[in-house]
Amino acid sequence: MAKSNSDNSIDGNFKGKDILSIDQFSPRDINILFKQASKMRGIAKNARPSDILKGNIVTLIFYEPSSRTFNSHAAAVKQLGGATIEIHDVSSSSVVKGESLEDTIRVFEAYSDAIVLRHPIKGSVQKAADAAQFVPIINAGDGAGSHPTQALLDLFTIYEKFKRLDNITAVLCGDVLHSRTHHSLIEGLSLYKKNIIYLLSPKELKLSREDFERYSERNIKLIEIHDEKEIPKNADVWYWNRIQKERFENPKEAEKYKNKLTLTQKLLQERGNKNLIILDPLPRVGEIDLAVDADPRAGYLRTQVRNGMYVRMALLSLVLGKA
Ligand code: NCD
Repeated sequence: MAKSNSDNSIDGNFKGKDILSIDQFSPRDINILFKQASKMRGIAKNARPSDILKGNIVTLIFYEPSSRTFNSHAAAVKQLGGATIEIHDVSSSSVVKGESLEDTIRVFEAYSDAIVLRHPIKGSVQKAADAAQFVPIINAGDGAGSHPTQALLDLFTIYEKFKRLDNITAVLCGDVLHSRTHHSLIEGLSLYKKNIIYLLSPKELKLSREDFERYSERNIKLIEIHDEKEIPKNADVWYWNRIQKERFENPKEAEKYKNKLTLTQKLLQERGNKNLIILDPLPRVGEIDLAVDADPRAGYLRTQVRNGMYVRMALLSLVLGKA
């Protein structure tokens, strides 16, 4: 929603706010969201439809492919009795005729109460928020930049497991350079005390030095490693994410990293602790061996996916002022 130079921190009040970055949140805001998400789990399990978002329309516009983020937002609106306008594939919209992002946003804000947007170019979601005059924009993935709603559901999943978000040791593995889910999770964990994050990646795919410096100034200890043998045995969270091949100038280059740093049962046996939770925002494209799925520590495809819908139900109800 357009605002001139205003501070967009949540500060206890979600109503009407764009959700662009985890940096808008304080631990107190995250608590409010989590309380609401727990209630939403009850609503989602209830066979009777809720009418919390009755009369609301939410537009989903995704300029990039998505399964979970798109459909969990759509399901979240429907679980709460609202309706959606769904543009899964912009090739069927006026975008192919050359319409600008700003014009597209101005059009859909006339039809709806909020817009959930995914875009391949970092900075585009902010551009959309600047263009929108009446409705909040929710960032559903902004190029290689950030993915705040994913980090919120990841934090919720970690919180439910450990009942805390401080004193966590996490290993984030994969394409740390391009992975927006990694970036937003680092930002989220840096809101709490005494968290340590090991960033396990091929050397060429470590965080950009700009991001590394920016994050290092925060309340978080970042340790870059490039070999599985350096994974600490006391880690609470293993968070694997695929190589982001669409972010490479030459997608063939991405092939080089395929099947490197795969999470296998053997690795889990050698370096995983008993109380670990294993997460992956998905899609999985080889970074976790299928045999790991049966391990009770595997949270992806289980709680993590479900929590995605509850957290988005919570966020939408708060942003639309219905919580
Ligand atoms: C992630 C994304 O889009 O960044 N997926 C998702 O939202 N669940 C992760 C990925 O695509 O690798």
